[in-house]
Amino acid sequence: MDHFTLNGQMASLDAADHSPLIDTLRSAHGLTGTKLVCGAGVCGACTVLVDGAPTVSCLSPCSSVAGKAVTTVEGIGATGLHPVQRAFMANDALQCGFCTPGFIVEAAAFHDAWRTAHGTRTPERAEIAEALSGHLCRCGAYAGIYRAVAEACAGTFDGTAEISTRLEARQKVTGAAKYTVDIQLPGQLEGVIARAHIPHGRITSIDMTAARAIPGVSAVVALAAVGDTVRYNGAPIAAVAARDRATAVAARDAIKFGITALPAATGAAAASAGNAPLVYPGFFDRPANASEGVVLPSRWKGNRRGPNAAFSLKPAEAKAAIAAARTKADPLLVEGRWTTEAQCHTCFEPHAALASFNGDRLTVYLSTQAISHMAGAIAKHAGLAEDKVEVIAEHVGGGFGSKLSLTSETVAAVALARAAKAPVRVAYDRHEELSVAGYRPGADMQLALLPSASGALSAITFSATADSGIAVNSAIATLARLMYTADAKFLADYDVVSHLPPGAPFRGPGGPVMAFALEQAVDAAAEKLKVDPIALRQRWDADANRQRLYNWASALPLWQQRQPTGAATGRLRRGVGIAAGSWLYWWQAEGELELAVVGGKLAVRSSVQDMGTGSRTLLATTLAQSFGLKPDEITVDIGRSSLPHGPISGGSRATATLVPQALTAAEKLKMRLRRLAKGKAGDNQPWREVIAASADVAVRSDRPEDSTTLSPGLQSPLAGVGYMGTVFDFILRKFVGVTTGRGGQGAVGIAEVEVDTWTGHTRLLRYATGLAIGKPQVPRLAQSQVEGSIIQGLGYALYEGRQLDAATGAVLSAGLEDYRIPGIADVPEMHIHFDEQGFEHVAGGGVGVGEIAGVPVAAAIANAIYNATGNRAYALPMRPDRIMAAQSIRRSA
Ligand code: FES
Repeated sequence: MDHFTLNGQMASLDAADHSPLIDTLRSAHGLTGTKLVCGAGVCGACTVLVDGAPTVSCLSPCSSVAGKAVTTVEGIGATGLHPVQRAFMANDALQCGFCTPGFIVEAAAFHDAWRTAHGTRTPERAEIAEALSGHLCRCGAYAGIYRAVAEACAGTFDGTAEISTRLEARQKVTGAAKYTVDIQLPGQLEGVIARAHIPHGRITSIDMTAARAIPGVSAVVALAAVGDTVRYNGAPIAAVAARDRATAVAARDAIKFGITALPAATGAAAASAGNAPLVYPGFFDRPANASEGVVLPSRWKGNRRGPNAAFSLKPAEAKAAIAAARTKADPLLVEGRWTTEAQCHTCFEPHAALASFNGDRLTVYLSTQAISHMAGAIAKHAGLAEDKVEVIAEHVGGGFGSKLSLTSETVAAVALARAAKAPVRVAYDRHEELSVAGYRPGADMQLALLPSASGALSAITFSATADSGIAVNSAIATLARLMYTADAKFLADYDVVSHLPPGAPFRGPGGPVMAFALEQAVDAAAEKLKVDPIALRQRWDADANRQRLYNWASALPLWQQRQPTGAATGRLRRGVGIAAGSWLYWWQAEGELELAVVGGKLAVRSSVQDMGTGSRTLLATTLAQSFGLKPDEITVDIGRSSLPHGPISGGSRATATLVPQALTAAEKLKMRLRRLAKGKAGDNQPWREVIAASADVAVRSDRPEDSTTLSPGLQSPLAGVGYMGTVFDFILRKFVGVTTGRGGQGAVGIAEVEVDTWTGHTRLLRYATGLAIGKPQVPRLAQSQVEGSIIQGLGYALYEGRQLDAATGAVLSAGLEDYRIPGIADVPEMHIHFDEQGFEHVAGGGVGVGEIAGVPVAAAIANAIYNATGNRAYALPMRPDRIMAAQSIRRSA
């Protein structure tokens, strides 16, 4: 036995224990602030100090710290917050918070060394980037991190004051925030999933005998049956629960299953071949759903499904006009084929579920962005009444669309907990997270756009084929209906299914894909028409919200100083490009929120979750403004399915649902309090005093009581969210439970890039974006959402693309060392403009911003690359090899 110092206390360790230090910290010492993300020393989330030096604990053997001093994030905040922690809170340098402890540990060490060497001199941006280059943040909180570290080093946070916009920021900067992977119940077991290793086959046997015989194994369950079809490499077959992960992995490997291999087609190109094996040969096969919408019947031809062309406008005329222009070689015709690759969500907290039965009651701690929906889905799957199931998610380490449905970690955890009669946790490893947890489907797009001689937009034909594995229902070309006014449009979406894992919704799902093609085509049309690209959009775009954004963008010095395409010379060439985007917002029809006075304090209750988007803070701020309180005076109780039914965090609906609900409940509660206080409350007496003096009382946002006396905008929830009231809307409400809001969210992005024409490396230097989402309810958090969207869009544009082995369907880029996401040094200067008009008809005056901001990013970068080099980008990501290839094609032309 040996010893080490842990957060100032003596602790013992086994000198022969060479397991990763992080395991000991988290399991034996309960220091769950140290997070496991990549397990490969790439992301820095597990960083601790060893004798004062930042060290990744996932690669350090436990034995290596014998006789040394280890400090975790809990040790850094133990005796009063470090200036860096206060700076992170004040600058909202975090979203989901899962990467935050690692950043805090490294930044604190940097701060202390900097202050010793430089006093309060502010470090340069490049110096901060170099210091934190070993850390990644998937939410893209880098802009706040830059500010926080700079200000902390400059001494701004040397005092003891704590300022925070985000309610739970203190928990996240100290490592106290508990995520699903951090929960430890008595007797808890570890579960892992055995998965198929071929892309297509028929299961002939599943033998779990050897696995069950391994000491320490408590349960082995089948997740598939003999005779079932395996449709992708990584499909779940069985699962095992054991006393620890190592035993569970050994037992998983002892499960013997036979699969008769069948011919496979991995990827849309292979699946489109005439002799390609069918993914869904049976009439009753039910494809997985790649979107948040309902899967409607559609035509199939082989593996190709579609078209979905319901949002076309005079499609025959559009096709005829384009064909005629092609025949006569109309010089104004713009045509192209654009392709994109799969972008992985890469949530830093993996998909994880911890299931625990108590008699016939089931509790599931779950990393999810849909608590209420998941409670219903789990109950149905487990054959339980919904009121017997509780789903809990206090903090969620990112989702981005991939945690909206019932997936194998939850199915396995519930089955294993039932079989083992003990709590079981199943958490994906990074390989699973990057291979089977979902991705934005790749696409192959053919687009033609025809301006008339007078400069109007005559016709668009846009066909998009999504490469979404075994899933269907992608919408890409359809979204072009939300953009420019044309005389005729043929907009057709197809899916080609293949033997790959299912795609899933990813932040504005088809929006950035659509914009990559459409916005480059508009850019090309502007060049042909010899019109400024913004002026052409102003001419073609009838949306009043985006018109204001075009006015804003055209006045920016960044745009006004733009050089003509081809003007840049030399090795490093700079260019500026613009793109626009559109999105809808939704209101979740089912559900309500409770507002109460409890013990003289205002308390709000909803089963909504907070995955870093700020639901807690949104509710507290909305209510605080209504009652003249401070947000931290309000108790926000969220994150459990037993609370009043809250919205999912997806499909741009959480803000547009929660704010009207909160304002409606606030009006009702005020009326109730006035009655109780005999009319004095609110007018003559501050609400703080009224609430403090009131007996306990509660109201629900959607109960009919008092509704006729509410202000007109809130009398009907539909009016409160600006109900669109179309047939499309009716269908959505009936089948998906959401209604569409009136008024399109708009975004315009201007990117400045620098292209190294010797290497093809592209840097995004500046990105300015204008957003029409009305009035942001919590401006600082809205800014964080936008910054994160820009950075994810940057990754999509330049770096991210899943790599596959076509023969086996195995995902090769299944580690963060192989799947490149943006780091802190990649982050551009960002300028964010909120246009606050256009949503006055919505209660609260604004809607969410989580999806719209990312729609135009890749397209704006592509247009900037064109402006810099004269080469149009037709494939995402715009990697150096592609930039160089485009360059050499142009030279040889
Ligand atoms: Fe960094 Fe979410 S805040 S990963």
